[in-house]
Amino acid sequence: MKKYFKVLALVLVLVFAAAIFMTACGSKDSSDNGSSAAASSSVATAPAKLITVGFSQCKADESDWRKANTKSVQDALSEANGFKLIMADSNNDAAKQVSDVQGFIDQDVDYIIIAAVNADGWDTVLGNAKTAGIPVILMDRTINASEDLYNCWLGGGFYKEGTKATDWIAKTFPDKTKTVNIVDIQGQLGASAQVGRSQAIDDGVKANSNWKLLARQTGNWSTDTAKEIMTSWIQQYGDKIDVVYAENDNMADGAMQALTEAGKKVGGKDGIKIISFDANKAYLQRVLEGKINVDVECNPLLGPGVAALIKKIEGGGTPNKKESVDESAFYFDTITQADIDARQY
Ligand code: AHR
Repeated sequence: MKKYFKVLALVLVLVFAAAIFMTACGSKDSSDNGSSAAASSSVATAPAKLITVGFSQCKADESDWRKANTKSVQDALSEANGFKLIMADSNNDAAKQVSDVQGFIDQDVDYIIIAAVNADGWDTVLGNAKTAGIPVILMDRTINASEDLYNCWLGGGFYKEGTKATDWIAKTFPDKTKTVNIVDIQGQLGASAQVGRSQAIDDGVKANSNWKLLARQTGNWSTDTAKEIMTSWIQQYGDKIDVVYAENDNMADGAMQALTEAGKKVGGKDGIKIISFDANKAYLQRVLEGKINVDVECNPLLGPGVAALIKKIEGGGTPNKKESVDESAFYFDTITQADIDARQY
């Protein structure tokens, strides 16, 4: 029996020792795993190289629309999304913008995004970008350069936006015997948004002999400038003005302020008709109130689309030369609060 218990005790000691040994091994393994996992994860989690993007914005705060656009790009091209964004604000100075882009080329960024102040003057610097092998994506604004000087463009259709407004004028003023006096507060001259929207009203006037373009002037996308211009037109033309064609929301705001201060009836069925572009949420409220008759959307939320285009090119893909975003229009007699609540900008 003694011998029997000795053997049993020995076995138990051995089993117990083995158990202690195994556990020690197990924790070592996890640390191993940890270390090997850490090693492998340290290998696995080495941060992927950020894609460096030079973003040339025309004027980051030139309008409510532009502020939404700038934020959309900054949010989409974040470090968390794998990007290093370098923004240069050209302050609506076309010459500065071209040198900003040359600066990006000299810095050898991976991609260049351009919201062009002016449609002209891009051949040389885009030629340099091409020679340097840096893909160029145009955002929002188009340019007058040959298409092989940039990879693609993403944005809205400015001329088409304008035709939505002229279609509404034609429907609202069906009596061809009555003159329709229109004033046009233009965007910054030379910007493709201004060129497209101004061309649309020009073509509307050409196509409708009773439409008269009473006056036009650039308000440089600004509320205050538009207010000054409208104040002087009210003195010049008094009650002759039937339609204000303001090429963005901020300028429509300036025009409405001047008209209201001059005691003029604004909007609705029997006021001076207000046409605007951008459809920022705050201004759609004015459409609902009947102050703005038509607000044609121009979508500023282009950041995610630009990020997707870069990832496509990174992956060896070739995007379409033109990628246009969907845009709608809002009318004072059909808009709903739900339309406004659904807006992201
Ligand atoms: O390019 C789009 C135009 O630029 C917007 O209509 C205007 O508000 C902005 O500043």
